[in-house]
Amino acid sequence: MSLTKKNLIFLGAPGAGKGTISNLLLAKVKLAHISTGDLLRAEVAAKSELGLAAGKIMASGGLVPDEIVAKMVRARLAKDDCREGFILDGFPRTIQQAELLDAALKEIHSQIDAVIYLHVDDETLLQRLTARLNCRGCDAIYNKLFMPPKVEGVCDKCGSALYQRSDDSLETAKQRLSVFYKQTEPLIEFYRKAGLLMTFEKGDPNAIVDQMISDLK
Ligand code: AP5
Repeated sequence: MSLTKKNLIFLGAPGAGKGTISNLLLAKVKLAHISTGDLLRAEVAAKSELGLAAGKIMASGGLVPDEIVAKMVRARLAKDDCREGFILDGFPRTIQQAELLDAALKEIHSQIDAVIYLHVDDETLLQRLTARLNCRGCDAIYNKLFMPPKVEGVCDKCGSALYQRSDDSLETAKQRLSVFYKQTEPLIEFYRKAGLLMTFEKGDPNAIVDQMISDLK
């Protein structure tokens, strides 16, 4: 299946479902998945210079500096698989990142077609984050309360062990939400004014993806 609007930004607070909805959409539509959280966690795991600096900021719930993240995204967008369309999951998160993205896309004669804003209330966000489980072996995301694996602690898809992200403690999750409202929320108005914003309210993730595909066709 292909989409008319295929260069996408997924915008939403921590726990809004950006990763979950991306995975469901990618199962139906071929797009490159660019998650800045995943790219940064890979740097942390590799103990690179960037990873060592970013790891401390991520553990505190803050944002990694705009230029560093934008440089990483710019390099990723230049890869061939992005030509068929992409999901930017968790980027941009500040107005400055949005401007850096715009400049990077102009360089490669590309543009954003739609910004998907996933809107979820704070109480649900905190419930979701503190009960989230991620797979060590693949991209699968679970939830102890809402989307449990068939066998406790084991990924349904690849059989690897599940773990809880260190930034999913209640204290750090609250801090990440507060950073979202201060630094990322202004992007909602920014993209609404640009005529790109499409808002999806909390609900069944499969229904959200079906609606999204129909709106992006
Ligand atoms: P990142 O990994 O991007 O974290 P985030 O934005 O905080 O988003 P999350 O991954 O926590 O949530 P999500 O919206 O993907 O939700 P998910 O689908 O997992 O970033 C981590 C850190 O890296 C940042 O704090 C920052 O330090 C740094 N960073 C990353 N990008 C950066 C940038 N651009 N600039 C600067 N720094 C950056 O779902 C959450 C849970 O809810 C899961 O358990 C899932 O099963 C469940 N769930 C999802 N959808 C539903 C549903 N519809 N119904 C019921 N349960 C659901």
